Amino acid sequence: MNLPPSVRLSGSDYPVFEIDHPTCKARVALHGAHVMEWCPAGEEEVLYLSPDAVYKEGKAIRGGIPVCWPWFNAHPADPEQPSHGLVRGRFWELLDAAEDPSGVTLRFGIRVGIWNAEITVKAGEELEVTLESKNVSEVPIVVSGALHTYLGVSDISQVRIVNLDGCAYLDTVGGPEMRKQKGDVTFDREVDRIYESSSSTLIVDDLSGRTILIEKSGSPSTVVWNPWAEKAAAMGDMPDDGYRKFCCIEAAIANDRAVVVMPGSSHVLSTRISVEE
Ligand code: BG6
Repeated sequence: MNLPPSVRLSGSDYPVFEIDHPTCKARVALHGAHVMEWCPAGEEEVLYLSPDAVYKEGKAIRGGIPVCWPWFNAHPADPEQPSHGLVRGRFWELLDAAEDPSGVTLRFGIRVGIWNAEITVKAGEELEVTLESKNVSEVPIVVSGALHTYLGVSDISQVRIVNLDGCAYLDTVGGPEMRKQKGDVTFDREVDRIYESSSSTLIVDDLSGRTILIEKSGSPSTVVWNPWAEKAAAMGDMPDDGYRKFCCIEAAIANDRAVVVMPGSSHVLSTRISVEE
C-alpha cells in the first residue's frame, strides 16, 4: 500500500509507522495496532513508552496505548486465556493510510476466530484511537476491553486526576472492594481501580504545568492504574523507577459492563487525548 508523504515504514520483521506531520510526530506499531508515541507540534511527548519495552511477537509493548480486546484483564470464564485479550500480542493488517492538513489516519484490522475488530488511529494536534468490535458471526458476542493509555507524567506523586469525584469504583488492590472516590485521585501507593464513569478526565501535572484531557465514548468504565515500586520492580520490561513516569487512564469496558454485540452489528469504543492550553 502507498503511504502518504508524512508516514514512513521502518523495520521489516516488526514494522513501525513513523509519522512526521506538521501537526505531530507519532510512532505506531503494526504489532497490536499499538500507538507507541505521540508528540503534538510544540509540545513534549505525551505518552509513556518504557525504555525496556520488548518488541517481539506475542509480547505486548509496555507503554503507549495497548489495545486490550475482546476482554479486559482475566478472561471471564477461562483462566488459561491471556490477560487483556487476544490482540495486543499479534500483528494486525494495515487497511488504510491517509493524511490531510489536520493529521494522519491509519486504519488496522484483525480477525481471530469469531473476533473481528478495526482500530483507527488519527494523529494530529489531538490523538484519537477508535476500536470497532464487529460481529461478523451468526451469534451474539460479548465484548469488553480497554484502550490502555500510558500517559507520561513528570512525577507520579505530583499529579492528580480530576473528574472522578463521587464515582463508585472497584478497588482491586488487596480487596477487591467497592469504594467511592472523594476528591481528585492522587498517588502514593499502588492504584488499580475500575471507576464507573463514562465521563472525560483530566490529568493535572503541576510540576510540568501540563494538563491533559482524556475524552472517551462507548466506555462505561475508567481504569486508573499505577503499579508502584514493588510491582514495577517485578516487571521485566520496565525500569525499577519507571512507575514514577506514568499513569494509566484507560477508556474501558470492564467486568459486568461487558457489551453484547448482535450479529451484523458493531460496538465503538474510542478515546481522544489532547494537551490543554
Ligand atoms: C491494568 C489492570 O489495566 O493493566 C492491572 O487494571 C494490570 O491489574 C495492568 O496489572 C497491566 O497489565 P499487563 O498485563 O499489561 O501487565
